[in-house]
Amino acid sequence: MPQAPPVASDFLARALADARSPRVPHSAPFVPERPFPWGGPALSLDGGGAVKAVELERALRLSLAVPAGTAGRLRPVASAGALHPVRAHLLLGPGCPLPPGRYAYDPYAHRAHGRGPAPADAPPGAMVVLTVTVTRTVAQYGHRAWPLLLLDAGHAAAALALAAAPGDVRVSLDADGAELAAAAGLPRAAEWRGRWPGTEPELPLAAAWLLPEGEPAAHSRPLAAWAAQRPAAAPGPRPDAGTARPREPASVRNLRELASVRHLLDHLAAAPGRAGTWHPARRPAPVTDDDLRTRRSAAPSDLAHPLAPDLLARVLATAGGARPDGPKWVAAVGGEAPGLLTVPPGTAPLDVLASGDARPTLARWAAGQRWIAAAGAVLVAHGCPADAPPALIRGSHLAAGYAAGTAQAHATALGLRSRPIGSWQQADLGAALGEAPGHDWIVHGLALAGTPERPHEDTPLPAPPPPPGKEERP
Ligand SMILES: Cc1cc2nc3c(=O)[nH]c(=O)nc-3n(C[C@H](O)[C@H](O)[C@H](O)COP(=O)(O)O)c2cc1C
Repeated sequence: MPQAPPVASDFLARALADARSPRVPHSAPFVPERPFPWGGPALSLDGGGAVKAVELERALRLSLAVPAGTAGRLRPVASAGALHPVRAHLLLGPGCPLPPGRYAYDPYAHRAHGRGPAPADAPPGAMVVLTVTVTRTVAQYGHRAWPLLLLDAGHAAAALALAAAPGDVRVSLDADGAELAAAAGLPRAAEWRGRWPGTEPELPLAAAWLLPEGEPAAHSRPLAAWAAQRPAAAPGPRPDAGTARPREPASVRNLRELASVRHLLDHLAAAPGRAGTWHPARRPAPVTDDDLRTRRSAAPSDLAHPLAPDLLARVLATAGGARPDGPKWVAAVGGEAPGLLTVPPGTAPLDVLASGDARPTLARWAAGQRWIAAAGAVLVAHGCPADAPPALIRGSHLAAGYAAGTAQAHATALGLRSRPIGSWQQADLGAALGEAPGHDWIVHGLALAGTPERPHEDTPLPAPPPPPGKEERP
């Protein structure tokens, strides 16, 4: 892997230290979600029930689509501050419900918009390139936004993979950003405004490859043919979208933060020559389509009930085993035997890594979210040293989001309550455990809780989660 130039890596180390620092973000006014920018005919994804076609309609409906007729539910997938910055571009080869070609996915209408033809040698199945738009997350979280954007992209990749996983699905979290952009027919961040003025830049971070039934994943560089294809259609003005410049936070400080986050994510995703490692995704038993459809993050006040150790061990093992390229996971519990617990690979019982109740410290490290100190269990992903190279920073956060998303689906299927935890400050877990400081930081978390027995049939349902965008604002 080519090394990043010294100036750039210094810039990265500073950005990482800043995101992990106690400095409180300057947040701009809330930026509403903007209308879907691509025009052209809106095409249904179900393909008229073609046998053996990739089940793209179901995979997207259970992961990224705005749920129809469910008040307060924005997407099936979780997202920091409920801001949902992830977009999907569909690169369809043979064996898909729509004719081969590039498409932009509209999550509101759950339809695909054609953006251009497919190369003659397109690999079979659907490549879904996941991008992020950063404006809303930066407006809310300032200098803490960029790790959250990576985590969000990881959650989205997991949601899509889990939804598609009864079929053969491969996920890459490390393909070169330039190749991902070229494959999706998108300009790089630095060129976006020049090429497509007035539209919001998207930064590609990950991809999933959904294979038709019985089709082997025979291509070693499945994005290459797409990346060689001429650029695809630009986002067009739509009658309902208007042609105005995108709404962005007005302050100069936030505009600077926007530019810097785009530059940073573009730099983190740069991996020249890297075709991507495509790991197969697996849906943990007993996760069903219904679990993916109904998954919610429980309200913080509903997360204080302890959970059975065997269920904790199963969810922790799922988080730890979700990706071979991901960070390690431990669980903090309180009660009669408080401690930090791990699950060694391939085994079910929990091992004690350290004794004592770490949850109050975790609550302090997670932007002072006090409810964490009483959570049934707090799973945390850790690694990503202060001087980590770009590929490790990108990979740790994407894979931690992917693992937390998979673990949250598993927890849902096991009847547990859960909530991801994204902002971590000064969370040097290694140093707290007596190791050298700076080498082992918390990058993501997932709170878990059991469900108390209901005394009466008519016990009220748990309160809904706090309104979008408010709950984890430090
Ligand atoms: C990357 C990420 C970080 C998050 N961080 C927090 C957090 O620190 N505190 C919190 O209360 N919720 C957090 N959440 C949960 C979101 O607020 C929640 O997913 C969002 O409100 C949507 O609700 P839902 O998960 O029920 O669909 C996080 C979610 C994600 C995906």
